[in-house]
Amino acid sequence: MLGLKLPTDSRWVNIVEKNIEEILTDHAYCEQKAASTAISLIIGFPEKSELVKEMTALAREEMGHFNMVHNKIVKRGWVLGRERKDEYVLELMKFFPKGGSRETHLIHRLLYAALIEARSCERFRLLSEELDDAELSEFYRSLMVSEANHYTMFLKFARKYGNREEVDQKWEQLLEYEAKLMENLGKRETMHG
Ligand SMILES: [Fe+2]
Ligand SMILES: [Fe+2]
Repeated sequence: MLGLKLPTDSRWVNIVEKNIEEILTDHAYCEQKAASTAISLIIGFPEKSELVKEMTALAREEMGHFNMVHNKIVKRGWVLGRERKDEYVLELMKFFPKGGSRETHLIHRLLYAALIEARSCERFRLLSEELDDAELSEFYRSLMVSEANHYTMFLKFARKYGNREEVDQKWEQLLEYEAKLMENLGKRETMHG
């Protein structure tokens, strides 16, 4: 349903389980970055009213997620650490060539966002199914549903603002590229690592 071509190595959850503080810190910033992405799409494409409306709601929702993760960190007696670099996202965003028209740039950003949501959703599902910590497992189950909705929303916008055939072709290529990236990931206690 998520279209992903390569599932995450199941041993990833075992790595995560040994360092819950680290995954929560990284996760908190993933939510913050998701909110920032929504805001920057508003700034970049203010004339697209439907997008602006949905991105406004999304920014609020993602900051709501950030707040929930932050509360979990504080409740466990920890303090939010510094932002972790997201190598996965940095590598992913090298796929589409730079430049091109403003419209093309929008399609690429929407496709990147759709894929990051899809992979996050898959990771949340793994956490919800495999974590022994009942509270966190329930938490990730509920977030998994939100991220699946975000994934379909971004893909819907890409198809709305671009040429359907071209968008679907780019999406396929991006999925292939992401699967190759994933071959070397799933080894660190970060949300996409
Ligand atoms: Fe989120
Ligand atoms: Fe999201």
